[in-house]
Amino acid sequence: MYLDKSRPVGVFDSGVGGLTVVKEIIKNLPGEDIVYFGDTARVPYGSKSKKTVIEYSSQIVNFLKTKNVKTIVVACNTASALALETIEKQTDIPMLGVVHPGTRAAINITKNKKIGLVATSSTIESGLYPELIDEMDPEIKVFTQPAPLLCPLVEEGWTDDEITDKVIERYTRGLVDSGIDTLILGCTHYPFLIDAFRRVVGEGIRLVNPAYETAVSLNTVLEDNGLLNDSGHKAEYSFYSSDDPQKMEKYIDSMLGCPIKELEQIKIEKY
Ligand code: DGL
Repeated sequence: MYLDKSRPVGVFDSGVGGLTVVKEIIKNLPGEDIVYFGDTARVPYGSKSKKTVIEYSSQIVNFLKTKNVKTIVVACNTASALALETIEKQTDIPMLGVVHPGTRAAINITKNKKIGLVATSSTIESGLYPELIDEMDPEIKVFTQPAPLLCPLVEEGWTDDEITDKVIERYTRGLVDSGIDTLILGCTHYPFLIDAFRRVVGEGIRLVNPAYETAVSLNTVLEDNGLLNDSGHKAEYSFYSSDDPQKMEKYIDSMLGCPIKELEQIKIEKY
């Protein structure tokens, strides 16, 4: 399949969490146009079955194909863990998820070989993070904790709130007691809570935000496929969501502050 390097990069998530990945892509790959889809009407994915997450992700891939994307970033840990293997067979367009880059980052950071992971219930149940870490370094111990209340708190905008701090404290207590020195924020919504995590777990535990590593991996994928946009043009950013995009727009403004080429609601179940 011939893919033109001037085409946009497609990015999707179950909601606004993937914007944390978009932020890193804009910072690290400023020449790339981006088409983002947030499935805000069907979020959260983290409590849904594998079959459902595959079905939703597959519809989004079909939608992104209509936008002529040259690569797809699955900016959702749950979809990366449960659906990526299946949806990448759906198309020749190169795809990457956030789990592999996050794993690599954590392995490079840990000194005492004790890594904590907070993520959605489905991501934890998939076992993918511990499996990959074990393949790369079997001496590393991984301690996991599902944190299903955090995604709704982010979607509600409660990112700086004492209730959210209390929830994080409850979820991370066991991990901290296990002596971890590194904590993977294994859900793309959690970097919105990075200050809260820092307040709660303290400076002694390094936090891993897989978003940055994903942008680095995207650079490699584009380079390897001869798809890096080196035209020097001003990049354009379009955003789509399955629910009213107004709520997402607030996040785009406060987080990315980039000009918006298009902002539109999509009937995703049609795809
Ligand atoms: N953004 C999703 C992820 O990274 C989590 C939110 C959800 O449950 O949909 O796993």
